[in-house]
Amino acid sequence: MKKQILLTMCLSVATMLSTTAQTLKLKEARFHKGDNMEWKNSSFDDSGWQSMSILKPWNEQGTQNPNNYAWYRIRFTMPQSMLDDSDVKETVLFNMGKIDDADETYLNGVLIGKTGQTPADKGGYSSAWESVRTYSVSAKNKAIKWDGENVLAVRVYNGNDPGGMFGSGVSISVPNRIDGMKTVFAQKSLGDNPVCTATLKNTNRSTAKIILDIDVTDTENGESLQHINKKLSVKGNGTKSFDLAYSKGKCVQIKVTCTDAVTGKKNVTTYIPKYILTPAAPATPRYNGPLVYGVRPGSPVIFRIPMSGERPMKFSVTHLPEGLTLDAANGVISGSIKDRGDYEMTIIGENAKGKTEQKFTIKVGDKIALTPPMGWNSWNCWGLSVSQEKVMSSARALIEKGLADYGYSYINVDDAWEAPERNADGTIAVNDKFPDMKGLGDWLHSNGLKFGIYSSPGDRTCGNYLGSLGHEEQDAKTYNSWGVDYLKYDWCGYSREFEKSSDRSVAAYVRPYLHMQKYLREQPRDIFYSLCQYGMADVWKWGHAVDANSWRTTGDITDTWESLYDIGFVRQAELYPYAEPGCWNDPDMLIVGMVGWSANLRETRLTTEEQYSHISLWSLLASNMLIGCDISRIDDFTFGLLCNNEVNAVNQDILGRQAKREIVDGDIQIWKRPLADGSYAVGIFNVGSENATVDFASYFDKLGISRLSYARDLWRQKDISTTDTRYFIPTHGVKFIKIRY
Ligand code: GLA
Repeated sequence: MKKQILLTMCLSVATMLSTTAQTLKLKEARFHKGDNMEWKNSSFDDSGWQSMSILKPWNEQGTQNPNNYAWYRIRFTMPQSMLDDSDVKETVLFNMGKIDDADETYLNGVLIGKTGQTPADKGGYSSAWESVRTYSVSAKNKAIKWDGENVLAVRVYNGNDPGGMFGSGVSISVPNRIDGMKTVFAQKSLGDNPVCTATLKNTNRSTAKIILDIDVTDTENGESLQHINKKLSVKGNGTKSFDLAYSKGKCVQIKVTCTDAVTGKKNVTTYIPKYILTPAAPATPRYNGPLVYGVRPGSPVIFRIPMSGERPMKFSVTHLPEGLTLDAANGVISGSIKDRGDYEMTIIGENAKGKTEQKFTIKVGDKIALTPPMGWNSWNCWGLSVSQEKVMSSARALIEKGLADYGYSYINVDDAWEAPERNADGTIAVNDKFPDMKGLGDWLHSNGLKFGIYSSPGDRTCGNYLGSLGHEEQDAKTYNSWGVDYLKYDWCGYSREFEKSSDRSVAAYVRPYLHMQKYLREQPRDIFYSLCQYGMADVWKWGHAVDANSWRTTGDITDTWESLYDIGFVRQAELYPYAEPGCWNDPDMLIVGMVGWSANLRETRLTTEEQYSHISLWSLLASNMLIGCDISRIDDFTFGLLCNNEVNAVNQDILGRQAKREIVDGDIQIWKRPLADGSYAVGIFNVGSENATVDFASYFDKLGISRLSYARDLWRQKDISTTDTRYFIPTHGVKFIKIRY
């Protein structure tokens, strides 16, 4: 079928440079493990060192070097012509690519940049493997030898392997003045009158005279909403800011063009600011949760009725099974049911504005997690700096800010809660940051939330904390005594155990997980079993057999499009046959909101569109929906992303079928998920770097659709035309719809 993509307007989110500064690209280095500060000097003789590509980590080149230092030395000539060609001749930029994990970079013995921290640094080791390093050096710096030989010496400290320099290699350039003009965007306000600020930053040392053009355009129809054209000068290292207003819920594109008034050279930056699509919830009661709940006979039921609407709200339930009680004020159902069976009931919510009724079934049997788990995990925000206090602050915010009214219920503590040593009797102990695990579990349960924890089948976790090896039974019992409802069991330190044997059969991968499963099942409560071993040995084919409820399918996600694209769009495409109620593919936790994997949080680096794509895809994939941000600092945009009841209903659909990628047509991908009511959820994604207009109908033949009888925009929660199926989809964006045909 003919491709129906019309490329629209402007360029992309990336800054486009129209200048021609020369760039020197370096790909090879000399390499040595270990650490010696003499190796930074240009006079050091490295001729005996091995060669190493700097395009891929050292592991992919036959070297292992966990928790250790290594050095790269790169020799190159810096042509004087690079300096002569620049119209400003101020700085030399060294783009070092990516370095796993921390680096110090020296040019001819002089330190020019450092990212991340080594164990010797104040505050200790801190990984920065995903950072792209650009180090700036004055063109007058005496360390640079123009037309002579230079040595870049890079001291690398690596935590867990893989490690080393990788990515695009080293690029060295002497920028023109216009290259030093950067435009950065920030969301000044959201809500009814959203405003985005565009700030021009002159990173040169001298003043830039520029002609500025700012165009704000409605992406749906190309209409110009605002145009600014002015001459201005921006002082060296100075900034100028412009506020740009746009309408609520509108996808607008901002294009900033800076033209150097002297040379006519330009740079262009485009951006789509945040816009909230999710309509505000009504004041009347509305049920936003799953329609079923699975529990084993006699195990505790902990269910907080997910209902939005004005408070106070009065909850009641008809036909509440024997053994369960309802707290009518906070809507928490608790207790246990002895006998197997399907227990149907009606949940009723009533407030000053109205009343709602919802049919709901508790299925007492062998299966739990009949819909994917929704909740929060500490890793993507706090990393190893997590503490009980931080966990509580997100748990409280989950309730106070209303996320619990949308079904988010698990509060999962990831790595770094464990003490350095076990207790004398071998039981696991907590570190100072977690004064009272049982108290934490009790508080969560009393609020209808569930408690998750993390360990490893190895002697050590990924963060080098204590694992469960040899103490599995004891640990399962301790978890039970704390009221744990979810265990993330992370392979990591088990590699050492694994390497003791040459057995690489599937059974060898299954063994540690089966072992812990036995003890978890012996506990008198249901513990969601989350396997984390990055997809090894096709875990999706045997996760069911070890009674797992979900299994990570890939390595760790991070908040970049690269990572989201690889994990979400590439690596899940063939996994749809393996998901079913009780057993879910897990493409890792959510990367929206304030994240950081450390004590220092920042806003996710995903663009607005990428965030809509992320949540849409995770809903289609029936993925675990574990929020990875500090909920106490959630903004209205992120709340809208996470709390759209129609989008979440796709994730929680009780048929439990994962979407299949039906169409890949260049940059357009269509993922389709059958739903319990006979309709389908469809994500039409634009994974390319240009905006597109897609005619969905042009794919009907391939999708087996003759004509649509119903179509609804899930983010906007509006029925849409069944005949006009042309959709504008910005770069990395999505049209997420529900259809019948
Ligand atoms: C691994 C896991 C992460 C996180 C860390 C904790 O990297 O994949 O999700 O649990 O370990 O150290």
